Amino acid sequence: EPGLAGHAARSGRVFGTAVRSPDLTWNATLRGEVLREAGLLVPEYEMKWDILAKTPGTYDFTGGDRLASFAEAHRLGLRGHTLVWHLALPPWLPGTLDAGEARRVMEAHVAAVAAHYAGRVQSWDVVNEAVDPQGPDGLRASLWQRALGADYIPLAFAAAARADPKAKLYYNEYDLECDTPDQDVRRAKTLEILTRLRREGVPVHGLGIQAHLQAGRWPYDAGKFARFLAAVAALDLDLLITEMDVSDRLLPASEARRDATVAALAGDVLTTFLTEPRAVGVVTWGLSDRQTWLNDLPTHRRTDGLPQRALPLDRDGGRKPLWTAMARAFDGA
Ligand code: G3I
Repeated sequence: EPGLAGHAARSGRVFGTAVRSPDLTWNATLRGEVLREAGLLVPEYEMKWDILAKTPGTYDFTGGDRLASFAEAHRLGLRGHTLVWHLALPPWLPGTLDAGEARRVMEAHVAAVAAHYAGRVQSWDVVNEAVDPQGPDGLRASLWQRALGADYIPLAFAAAARADPKAKLYYNEYDLECDTPDQDVRRAKTLEILTRLRREGVPVHGLGIQAHLQAGRWPYDAGKFARFLAAVAALDLDLLITEMDVSDRLLPASEARRDATVAALAGDVLTTFLTEPRAVGVVTWGLSDRQTWLNDLPTHRRTDGLPQRALPLDRDGGRKPLWTAMARAFDGA
């Protein structure tokens, strides 16, 4: 039985996972699971600004380099995550910058990191989570937006393209899959961001759809999702699911019930996603339930304290119904 990467390859797609590179170095179990299932890796946090630049102007690429070496040694692809975001900013960065400072600091960071990994990273999440339906003009009022308005987005992509002309450059966003209350605004704003980059001739190659799914929370409308995917593809962009997991925090305690509901939702979303020819692959935000970030935060963990069953492998590395639903979605694509 091939791993998920083998199932994905049958329809010319990739399957990958986020990893914390210290785990790979120290953890033979995780290393075995990654090599069995994945064809692409992305650092869960090792290439983020707060980890790379612990002090102003200095960069410690050790963690990301360790992951890049592992990927190269095992002929796995590597994604970079993420260059410009409102979170994971180093504590020494001021909370407010004027336009000139923001542009200089942001472009210097993008240049330093994208140049360092040029030739090793196939694609970058250049800008992450810029949309906020309640924010100014539908954008999150981040450090960057407050200093530069919407212009920070094309500026970030242009800086990344200068530093690494070969990498595929993605805009990465969440809550684009199911019908959350502000779904239409989120999708429209995402399309507007991508359309502007295209119109201004700024290099952009794809949309990252995070797919942090929440079982039992929002309705899922396959037709609406398919039409959104087609609209992105019509901009001559690729589509990648970049961070899939399925929170089961709202479901009753029964593991069998949780596994079945989680698998059904993921199967539905992936079936729609993989119907789109420009869909290039699926990345999960971890492989086994041992690793999921969903247990880390009070806002995301289950109220009964049970560990979530959000990823394809259980805590012992066994394949769950979610794994089967993913394999079937790839096979049917
Ligand atoms: O900061 C320390 C670092 O100094 C230390 O070396 C390392 C090892 O102990 O731990 C680091 O701690 C935490 C790190 O995760 C590892 O657990 C950080 O404090 C913590 O903020 C970080 O949280 C990550 C979060 O992004 C912020 O970077 C989560 O693991 C990660 O799952 C989450 O991922 C985000 C995506 O980037 C964007 N989309 C949403 C997704 C979930 O929030």
